[in-house]
Amino acid sequence: MSAKLYLYPLWLRVWHAFNALFFLVLLITGISMQYSSPDLPIVPFELAVASHNIAGIGIVIAYVLFLLAMMFSPNKKHYKIQFKGLIGRLTKQIQYYVFGVFKKQEPPFPTTEAMKFNPLQQVTYVAVLFVLFPILAITGIALFFPELIVNNVFGVGGTLLTALLHASAGFVVSMFLFIHLYFATMGATFTSNFKSIVSGFHEAH
Ligand code: HEM
Repeated sequence: MSAKLYLYPLWLRVWHAFNALFFLVLLITGISMQYSSPDLPIVPFELAVASHNIAGIGIVIAYVLFLLAMMFSPNKKHYKIQFKGLIGRLTKQIQYYVFGVFKKQEPPFPTTEAMKFNPLQQVTYVAVLFVLFPILAITGIALFFPELIVNNVFGVGGTLLTALLHASAGFVVSMFLFIHLYFATMGATFTSNFKSIVSGFHEAH
């Protein structure tokens, strides 16, 4: 029986559940609005717009509460990147994901209470939460209040630029989600990390 560490406090699990739910709604309705032909929408257009707006407002509120909780929680220590030696640590982790995991090697950065993320997880979580998410939220809010958008940026419509940035950042975060789900299967067992983000307890390898 492997040791269990309590790594995901309740507030974090509640945020993660709402975040995942809102994000899935945004992804499905976003794709539907972007690619559907008017005769064959994935989700009827009006419904897609309304659900996208509601989930967008929901995810931004959840994000603000997440930032507030992080300010008062020791959880923030896991998001402080040590830049010294980072490239070497990232390379080690990538080698593990590409080769080591299939050779049943031990992970180079095992999960501990002091550092629950491996370097690759840490960098991607920081990039998604503190770079991509703000871009998505700011451009999303701007598209919700189009009168706020600058009309013309070097001859190109400001709304078009904002929409392009929003859809591109949405695409990158969607790619993150697929990779996130794949890596989440590499816990002690196929499902143990999924159980952790529900129960709070991480099962060691
Ligand atoms: C169906 C949707 C999702 C599932 C099933 C899922 C699953 C998981 C699992 C199993 C973990 C714990 C293991 C780990 O740290 O890798 C986790 C943590 C995490 N997930 Fe997700 N995830 C989903 C969506 C998302 C989305 C949309 C985001 C962000 C845009 C996200 C961001 C995070 C972050 C930041 C953590 C670490 C939280 C912390 O410990 O501080 N997840 N997720």
